[in-house]
Amino acid sequence: MYRVTAMENIALTYRRYGEPDVVLQAETAVPAARLAGHLRVRMLFSPVNASDLIPITGAYRHRTTLPAVAGYEGIGVVTDAPGDYAHLLGRRVLPLRGQGMWQRVVDCPAEYAIPVPEEMNSLRAARAYINPLAAQMMLTRYPPRGKTVLLTAAGSDCAILLGQWALNAGAQAVYGVHRSPIHADRLAAMGIIPIAQDDVSAVCEAAARAEVTYDATGGGLAETILSLMPEQGIFVCYGLLSGQTFRQRQALPRVEWFHIRNALDALGTSAWQAQFTAIWPKLRASRYSDATLFPLAEWRAALGAYREAGRLSKPMLSMED
Ligand SMILES: NC(=O)c1ccc[n+]([C@@H]2O[C@H](COP(=O)([O-])OP(=O)(O)OC[C@H]3O[C@@H](n4cnc5c(N)ncnc54)[C@H](OP(=O)(O)O)[C@@H]3O)[C@@H](O)[C@H]2O)c1
Repeated sequence: MYRVTAMENIALTYRRYGEPDVVLQAETAVPAARLAGHLRVRMLFSPVNASDLIPITGAYRHRTTLPAVAGYEGIGVVTDAPGDYAHLLGRRVLPLRGQGMWQRVVDCPAEYAIPVPEEMNSLRAARAYINPLAAQMMLTRYPPRGKTVLLTAAGSDCAILLGQWALNAGAQAVYGVHRSPIHADRLAAMGIIPIAQDDVSAVCEAAARAEVTYDATGGGLAETILSLMPEQGIFVCYGLLSGQTFRQRQALPRVEWFHIRNALDALGTSAWQAQFTAIWPKLRASRYSDATLFPLAEWRAALGAYREAGRLSKPMLSMED
């Protein structure tokens, strides 16, 4: 437990790039005055995602400034608001696109804060941004209707939403390549045909049929799939979990890189809010992984849990003692 006064904030901050366990430190300070047009939010929960850890290593150093507070998504309760947003006082919001969220107090631009529907569970709502929005945008940009779809890292939160929502959007079949065997049953229960990553012939067969691949692994698996996909297919790369990029040996199938940050600038505030109006009912109706709670003071244990292979739940920082 961290000891702080009621006025103080605790923030997991990095002042240099490197391994998150090494460079993150819990810093205590009294928050600065709330900026005009911003909400002040007392945080409840914030998950640990790949997207939170990668920037800490310096992978995007060209567009991050230090010091920085880690964490891109989470949920909290509004404690202070400008007059136009007084109706949000006491309500749960996702305080997105402001400060890092691995801290107890977050200020965010009021027009980007996403009010959370009453009936939405906080542990699920805390994860309504990075993975759901990426899945929704990829499916809009590269529609799966009538197509055979292939997913990699299929046990991940992003892939299970991609798979379920691709089926809802009319995909003919969805195959999910998963690394740990533990994912097979739940993928099947979602209607996703599980394929063990080490079953090379099954991976090759599925790749040869795949008209759209949504890949989060890169490396050798991406190269294998690319070498076998039909030429008219589309290979969408949205992550490099293997830590390795890949080479494309022939011009086709087309390769597209997707990153949510590149899509955000084009969204005005009403289009941004509309994305979540579409996400809430879909997220409520979908299977998603469970969350395992870690008090903020135990953030190292949360990072350790994140790295465990074959995880079925998402580590979630709990900001209150
Ligand atoms: N481009 C974007 O805008 C965007 C947006 C959201 C997410 N993403 C990406 O989506 C990916 C998944 O994120 P998430 O939060 O959904 O993950 P998650 O729920 O935390 O799950 C991670 C999954 O990745 C699998 N995995 C890890 N390393 C792997 C490897 N080397 N080969 C195969 N599988 C591996 C794990 O498999 P095991 O169960 O076997 O351990 C686990 O199922 C990340 O790469 C993230 O960066 C990208």
